[in-house]
This record gives sequence, structure tokens and C-alpha cells, in this order.
Amino acid sequence: MTKTIALMGAMDEEVGLLLGEMTNTRSRTAAGIRFTEGLFRGCPVVVCRCGVGKVNAAAAAQVLASEFRIEALVFTGVAGALDPALEIGDIVVSSESVQHDMDASPLGFARGIIPFQTESVFPADPDWVRLAEESCKAAGVRFATGRVLSGDRFVADREEVAKLREEFGGACTEMEGAAVAQVCRMNGIPHVIIRSMSDKANGAAPESFAEFTAAASARSFGIVSGMLELRALRQP
Ligand code: ADE
Repeated sequence: MTKTIALMGAMDEEVGLLLGEMTNTRSRTAAGIRFTEGLFRGCPVVVCRCGVGKVNAAAAAQVLASEFRIEALVFTGVAGALDPALEIGDIVVSSESVQHDMDASPLGFARGIIPFQTESVFPADPDWVRLAEESCKAAGVRFATGRVLSGDRFVADREEVAKLREEFGGACTEMEGAAVAQVCRMNGIPHVIIRSMSDKANGAAPESFAEFTAAASARSFGIVSGMLELRALRQP
């Protein structure tokens, strides 16, 4: 039996286009989050809008892992660019993700390290990363594969960007990815995070986010759609 692919975003803009194109849908709610199963371009999927932040993202990812027979999880959405080479609309495909706001430094742990745990950096699945890169190439979209930094903070400050870059070397920052990645790791589910840049995480980020979130979400949606189409072409 073909297993389902979980597609997740934090906000309506990030999942609206997916939900709009699904057929044969049925929905149910768990942990206050609506999960919609159905077909997207012929592929069985379950889509949810988890809400903003790491707790919402982790709760939704755990429901997906526990209650749906999912083969993989793809997160789609927008992010603030940290790498100065990235422009608004460019895509970041996660190679791995880290919680930049995990901070037990008074106990002697480096920032980003989850105390008393062997893993704090969560790698994306190489096959899904490759599929995402191929989808970007097929769409002719500028992309970078790199580290995603997640935290419960909307970053809108040039100095904070410099500090995050220096400490963690991330390509972009957002508020859910590493939480989802950790839950996927805990449940043995392959994942990848796809993010289109809505802003540059600087002083202009709030206005940029308001202006470009819809277009950037559509760009990320296009890449995820392309991934599922490429995958369908390769299925035996
Ligand atoms: N999502 C989109 N832009 C962001 C930013 N600058 N900081 C955190 N999350 C974001």
C-alpha cells in the first residue's frame, strides 16, 4: 500500500494552495489541529497547518507520526534569510536544522545544544533533499541547501543575524523546522524542510514579511508540488 506523505506548514498562506488542490478529502482534528487527508496530484497526502512556533510544530508532527501511516514529512513555508547571498523568494532546502534558542549556557552547554542528549542537530533525509534540489532545478528557482535555524522568535535585527551566522552558520531562520525535525528523528520518519525567503531577518523584516509571505509561500508550494510529481514519475 502506498504510504502517505505528510505536508506541513505553520500558517494558512503556507498550506492554502495545497488544500485548495486536494481531492477526495476527509479531515479530523487532534490536539486542536486540523489534519486533512486526500490526494494531491495523485499522491496520498495528509496536510496540516500547525500554527506558529516550535510547540505547535512538535505537537502536530507527533500526531502525524502516531496517528497517520506517513512515509515522510515535508515542511513548506517562508523564512528570514541569514545568508547574505539569498534574495527574497529564493529557496532553502534544509540539510539539517538546529534550535537556535535552546540555551543552557549557564550549565556549560554551547547555545543550540540540548542538554543531556546526544543529538541537537537534526539532518534532513538525503533522498528527500535530492528530490527538493531537483524540483528547484526543474522550476528554474534559485536555491541553497543549508542549515535551518529555528527558534520561538521572529528575527528582525541585523546584529542578531550576524550573531546567529557567527554562532550557527545558518542559511535561514524560521520558527518550526528543527522542532519538526527532532520529532521526525524521534519517530524514525524521514523529513525535509523547504523554505522560501519572505525577508532578510533585518529591521525591514516585518514589512517584507507582510509584503512577500503570500508569494514566497506560493514559491515553496511550487517546489513541494514538483517534488511529489518527480517522485510519482519514479514510482514502480
Ligand atoms: N519566518 C519568516 N521570516 C522570519 C524571521 N525573520 N524570523 C523568524 N521566522 C521567520
